[in-house]
Amino acid sequence: DVGDVAMSRFESDKYLPYPHLQQSLKRIRRRLDRPLTLSEKILYSHLCEPDTQDIQPGKSFLKLYPDRVAIHDANATMALLQFMSAGIDKVAIPTTIHTDHLTMAEKGADADLAAAKIKHKEVFAFLASASARYNIGFWKPGSGIIHTILFENYAFPGGLLVGTDSHTPNAAGMAMLGIGVGGSDGVDAMAGMPWELPCPKTLGVRLTGRLTGWASSKDIICKLAGMVSVTGGTGKIVEFFGPGVSTLGATAMATIGNMSAEIGATSCLFPYSRAMGNYLDVTHRANIAHAASQNLNLITPDEGSDRYYDDIVEIDLDTLEPHINGPYTPDLSHPMSQLAKAVNENNWPKNLSASLVGSCTNSSYEDLMKVSGLLQQAAAAGLKPRTPFFVSTGSEQIRATAEAAGFLDIMRNAGVTILSSSCGPCVGQWNRPDIPKGEPNSVISSFNRNFTGRHDGNPGTHSFVTSPEIATAFAFSGLLDFNPAIDSIPTSSGKPFKFAAPASDELPTNFSTGVDLYQPPPPFAEARKVFVAIEPSSDRLQKLEPFAAWKKDQALDLPILVKVKGKCTTDHISPAGPWYDYRGHLDNISNNMLTGATNDFLPSHPPGTAQHVSSGVVDAIPVIARQYKAAGINYCIIGHNNYGEGSSREHAALEPRFLGAVAIVANGFARIHETNLKKQGMLPLTFADPEAWGRIKKDDTVSILGVEQIKQGKQLKMRVRNRKDGSEWETLVNHSFHEGQIPWLMSGSALNYIKSQK
Ligand code: F3S
Repeated sequence: DVGDVAMSRFESDKYLPYPHLQQSLKRIRRRLDRPLTLSEKILYSHLCEPDTQDIQPGKSFLKLYPDRVAIHDANATMALLQFMSAGIDKVAIPTTIHTDHLTMAEKGADADLAAAKIKHKEVFAFLASASARYNIGFWKPGSGIIHTILFENYAFPGGLLVGTDSHTPNAAGMAMLGIGVGGSDGVDAMAGMPWELPCPKTLGVRLTGRLTGWASSKDIICKLAGMVSVTGGTGKIVEFFGPGVSTLGATAMATIGNMSAEIGATSCLFPYSRAMGNYLDVTHRANIAHAASQNLNLITPDEGSDRYYDDIVEIDLDTLEPHINGPYTPDLSHPMSQLAKAVNENNWPKNLSASLVGSCTNSSYEDLMKVSGLLQQAAAAGLKPRTPFFVSTGSEQIRATAEAAGFLDIMRNAGVTILSSSCGPCVGQWNRPDIPKGEPNSVISSFNRNFTGRHDGNPGTHSFVTSPEIATAFAFSGLLDFNPAIDSIPTSSGKPFKFAAPASDELPTNFSTGVDLYQPPPPFAEARKVFVAIEPSSDRLQKLEPFAAWKKDQALDLPILVKVKGKCTTDHISPAGPWYDYRGHLDNISNNMLTGATNDFLPSHPPGTAQHVSSGVVDAIPVIARQYKAAGINYCIIGHNNYGEGSSREHAALEPRFLGAVAIVANGFARIHETNLKKQGMLPLTFADPEAWGRIKKDDTVSILGVEQIKQGKQLKMRVRNRKDGSEWETLVNHSFHEGQIPWLMSGSALNYIKSQK
């Protein structure tokens, strides 16, 4: 009976939900009465009410019951603080917390982990005790990166996972629908509440052929990012199909799923394949592979369903070149043969200052074997890397497996710094004394994201994203205009050295599990006695106070704190790096609000500055915001395009709410950020006429009219009045609140509303 298969080896009393999903799928089939895509099957079989739920891609909201929740340490403090303030006794669905983002990369795995355990002692103790108290599995420092641990231990075909990290679609490599959410969405799911998602459309990506030479799965997603841009997947699940799919390994598909976040996709899916079964087998989950093989109708698309994709693009793997994307945005895509030209034309720093390999995106067995193979080739020619070279293993399991296979010794011998199994330089946690802040330089990595300051907090760092093998080869050339497929590297013997294209096995025969760094939740009776400490004097943790309910007319006569111009990701709104320390302390972390954003009103000032409308004083945005807050002045923020793209970081929504912003009006929002704003009782609005953005002037005051009568699908009116000349104009603004979300706004936050309903 496949209904009795445990979901994971850590949860022997939680079973694969296939019988229930099959029942729901039958009902959906009856309703839709046509071939179903894989996205439809997995998503709709998780509907709370499959018989009656309004299913309109791009229009309706779905209410879903996910199978599990995962939260990383940088979001977990705030998520747990919210969960605790909701007064619930234990999580309703399997939940895990992962300590990966807070560990700084500097000297190497052991020293860095030891330093993290000292520096974040209070936060790690809070996470461990709150996990034990609320029935959550806790992965301790050094255990690995959230997506890698999920993939190795928890991902199962046909499941629905919500994770408080935008790269949760990494689960696609196991035909699991992984969706990145904000912490407050995670809290809903943990509380057993229906979790809401705008009904997504589907972007079909047809793969043909087979990868050859230097091309890898990373190049599929780097190429796709160039084809469709950072917004090309917005509101969509990217579903791969076609004959090329069966040529890919499970971890290769995970890499693609992971990086689908870079095109703004809701999620990503690959159909269940032989490769996924093999991966389950070697990660000690043959029982799940067997159960999956009994449920193929659920985890593969119906014949002929590709007609129902909203869009289709095609990528031919036979002719796919390696790609290097960047700098500063992951959709600036360069086939390797074109990169040198782009580097010269744009004057990007040609000398590489570092090469970095690994992270949750690219630290699979296949990846690390390719890297070590290239290092061996170079060592045989007497070469050492010309750039500092770092490898982040994704988990203790892959670290131990790579160690046993001898890959890490090969790397150490080449002078590579092996970092701990955590995010480190992938998320701004890179203490890097070699390059002064602001100094232009270039780095190449196998990570997934390359926004400004993403690795080292240095806006001068030009970051290029590529496959691990290309990042490795480039480390030996030290130059960005290198092409390992054709270029040679001089050696001391005088004989030029040219790399052979890397080769690798897809999987080891078995994975070592390494050191056990998992803390299972105790039995409930014991859990109730666990004390969760928050010191009032702490600068790391602060109890959450509820936000005030909506007050009539509070959106009238709002000064504009800042008119954001250009890219404004959640990294610009709430930068990472040193600010991670304050993720559990809303007051303290609010001092970073919008400090990376460019203010269109102050073109000659550095990013992150604003001007007080009364005093005329120019200061850091959070300083001006606090002055308004202290004076009881509500204000608004004007955003630009795709405001809040990037991560699920809910602090980017909590901070403006905490500092007194009422509304954010932009030409468009990234999905997760818009939901986060709504959950915190903010008013995210989009200009019905995108030209209106250009008409907003420094001395304008904004009024949003009729908020108290807000209705689903009904536009609001925005009146703009110039304080200097008294001129006025009006424009329409859209909102995406549906009827079920309007009480969030009126109650002051979704959490206030949940509490009021209890
Ligand atoms: Fe961490 Fe970078 Fe992955 S931040 S979760 S390693 S994308």
